Amino acid sequence: MGSATRIAVLRERASGETRVSATPETVRKLIGLGASVAVEAGAGLHASIADADYLAAGAAVSPLAQVLDGANIVLGIQAPDPALLDGAASGAWVVAAMDPFAQPSRVGAYAAAGLEALAMELMPRITRAQSMDILSSQSNLSGYKAVLVAANLYGRAFPMMMTAAGTVSAAKAFVMGVGVAGLQAIATARRLGAQVSATDVRSATREQIQSLGAKPIFVENVRGIEGEGAGGYAGEMSEEYRRAQAELVSAHLARQDIVITTALIPGRAAPRLISDAQIATMKPGSVIFDLAAPQGGNVEGGVADEVVERHGVKIAGFSNTPAHLPAEASALFARNLFNFVSAFWDKEQGKPILDDEIGAAIRLTQGGRVVHPRLLG
Ligand code: NAI
Repeated sequence: MGSATRIAVLRERASGETRVSATPETVRKLIGLGASVAVEAGAGLHASIADADYLAAGAAVSPLAQVLDGANIVLGIQAPDPALLDGAASGAWVVAAMDPFAQPSRVGAYAAAGLEALAMELMPRITRAQSMDILSSQSNLSGYKAVLVAANLYGRAFPMMMTAAGTVSAAKAFVMGVGVAGLQAIATARRLGAQVSATDVRSATREQIQSLGAKPIFVENVRGIEGEGAGGYAGEMSEEYRRAQAELVSAHLARQDIVITTALIPGRAAPRLISDAQIATMKPGSVIFDLAAPQGGNVEGGVADEVVERHGVKIAGFSNTPAHLPAEASALFARNLFNFVSAFWDKEQGKPILDDEIGAAIRLTQGGRVVHPRLLG
């Protein structure tokens, strides 16, 4: 066995990014595998993790050049600029969210630099990989945060309250898109005391909505309602279904106080769920939080990282919602990365070996070339 695998943890450089890709807990566990870990100074600052905490966990804490020196695995939240990674070992893994289809030239630069870029957001949704799934861990927190932000922007209370001065009625909250984020949004809004309803294009979500004590809002008897695409994700809808859904939702929207939109279709711009004309029918003072804002948004007129007011309705959404819960989002993301590295760790060789369907799904570059099928013409 050669020298220990060196793992580098970088400080995030993207604007507004607060998360960090390793925590003292995962540093300890990575060292437990037999690796050595170097953390860039200040990497955990925004997630409330001090350099001293990483040192206490057994990591070295240094400036970028030393952290990268001979690194075999570079961990990140968002893909680091390949130009920063001089000094990493040849063939080093770069493990992060890569946004590969929007950033093909960055992927090309990883290939040219001889690095192996691994896109964690392409993790297949198979049982074995659930603990490595950054989309799930981050969406869950986002669904929670969306409701808190909406509640804060809303000038009224969520729960029904009976007081000596009279009764306050419960807020009506509507969740559109019931994936991981939507389910957490339903649960959070219920906990705050709202009357919650929800819709999705996948009919399998109806039972999930009910089991959380919310009311499902679904079109009936229209072809194309199944809406289930590959891997449990949404597919494209029939025109007939789309029209029926829009009518039903319009009538329902007009009665809502809080709307959380989460609808995404992988590989496409977010579907438009709420038009300006529909917003005009809503009650003044209502709040819409658009979790799809980073992918172009579900709501007409929404602007990421701003609160826009239209027809008396506030529309909000963040370009990076998990970054608004830095400590927890880092803890879960870091565990996803650790679970990934440890699942493939080969004790004999003292390093991870990635040669199965997970590797094929997430590997973007290898041996100086772009290798992911979806990136090759
Ligand atoms: P997502 O973030 O891709 O989309 C969010 C939701 O929006 C989905 O439920 C989708 O059906 C819905 N949607 C799309 N277009 C819509 C429209 N026009 N109107 C209303 N809703 C619309 O989805 P997410 O959260 O990533 O989860 C997708 C599925 O994958 C879920 O069934 C989830 O339970 C499953 N999953 C499976 C995992 C595993 O087995 N390892 C891990 C994580 C999720």
